Amino acid sequence: MKAFEKYTLKDMEIKNRIVMPPMCMYSSDNTGTVQEFHKMHYGARAIGGTGLIIQEATAVEPRGRISDRDLGLWSDDHIEGMKNLVQNIKGYGAKAGIQLAHAGRKSESRSAIPVAPSPIPFSDDYRIPHELDLEEIKKIAEKFKEAAKRALLAGYDLVEIHAAHGYLIHEFLSPITNKRTDEYGGSLQNRTRFLKEVIQAVKEVWPDDKPLTIRVSATDYLPGGIDGDEIVRIVNEVKDRLDMIHVSSGAIAPAEMNLYPGYQVQYAEKIKKECDIPTIAVGLIKDFDQVEEILRNGRADLVALGREILRNPNWVLSNMNNQNIETKYPDQYFRAFK
Ligand SMILES: Cc1cc2nc3c(=O)[nH]c(=O)nc-3n(C[C@H](O)[C@H](O)[C@H](O)COP(=O)(O)O)c2cc1C
Repeated sequence: MKAFEKYTLKDMEIKNRIVMPPMCMYSSDNTGTVQEFHKMHYGARAIGGTGLIIQEATAVEPRGRISDRDLGLWSDDHIEGMKNLVQNIKGYGAKAGIQLAHAGRKSESRSAIPVAPSPIPFSDDYRIPHELDLEEIKKIAEKFKEAAKRALLAGYDLVEIHAAHGYLIHEFLSPITNKRTDEYGGSLQNRTRFLKEVIQAVKEVWPDDKPLTIRVSATDYLPGGIDGDEIVRIVNEVKDRLDMIHVSSGAIAPAEMNLYPGYQVQYAEKIKKECDIPTIAVGLIKDFDQVEEILRNGRADLVALGREILRNPNWVLSNMNNQNIETKYPDQYFRAFK
C-alpha cells in the first residue's frame, strides 16, 4: 500500500505518506505560546500514526496573526513551548513541520492595523490595511528568517512558508490584491519578489539538509487572479530553493468555489508534472482508496487529510488495520487492533 510506504525528503524520513496539514486551533492565549491543548491535540495525531504533522499557521509577528489566539514564533520566549511540542510529536513517531505565516490584510488581531501590499480590505467586514513601504517589506522578510531560526532551535524537521489562502505572501502574488506600481507589483517577477525574498531570508538560517516547502493557492477562482498556469510560472520562479509544494487553492477574496472530493488534486498533479517538484495534495480527501489513487497514479507525493484527521486522529492506524498491514500498533492499544 503506497499510503503506508516510507518517504524521504532531504534528511527527513517519514514513515508513511499521510500528512496532517496546518489547521489553526486559535487556542493560545494572546502571547502566542503553546498550551496544554496543543500538546494533546498534536500528540494524539502522532500516536494515531500520522507520518508528518505540519503545525498550524504560526505568526512571525503579532500583527501577522489571524486572531489574537494564534500560535506565534516572533519571540525567543516561544521556543521552549514549541520544543516540548516537537518532542511530543517526534516521541510518538511522527515528523514535525511548522507553517510560518503572516496574515496580512486578513489579520483580525486587535494588536495593530493589518498590513498589505495595497490598501484594499478583504471585504466590508475587514479593516483597511496599511500599505507596506519598501523598508517595512524587508523587515517582514527578516521576521520570517528570525522565526525559522527559532523553529530550528525548537527541533522542527520541516518549515512550510504560508504563501496561500489570501494571507500576506499570497496578497503580493495575486493581481487581485497587489496593485503596486513599484518593484513589488505588476509583472509576475515583481509580484513574486516578496516570496523570493522570504525564501532567501529563511534559507540563510534553515539548513540545506532540512526540507523547506511553501503552501500555495493554485487558483484564485476569480477573473484576473492567479490560475493553474500562472501558479506553475510562479512556482518555477522559486522552486530552486524549495523541496516540495503544498497545493491548496482560493481565499484571496470572496469567490465561488466548486467543492468536491479531491477538488485540488488536479493542481498538485499539474505542479508536480510541469514544475518537476514533489507535491502534497489536499482538500476533501478522506477515504483510503482515494489516497491510494492519488499516490499510485503519481498525482502527488504525499496526501494531507485535514478535517478527516480532526475527526479521526487514528486514521493511519485504523486504515492499516483494515488493510491487514502488520505494524507496531501502540502497546497500550493492543486490544483495539487485530
Ligand atoms: C479548522 C481549520 C483550520 C485551518 N487552518 C489552516 C492554517 O492554519 N493554515 C493553512 O494553510 N490552512 C489551514 N486550513 C486549511 C487546511 O489545511 C486544509 O487545506 C483544508 O481544510 C482542506 O483540507 P480537508 O478537506 O482535508 O480538511 C484550515 C482548515 C481547517 C478546517
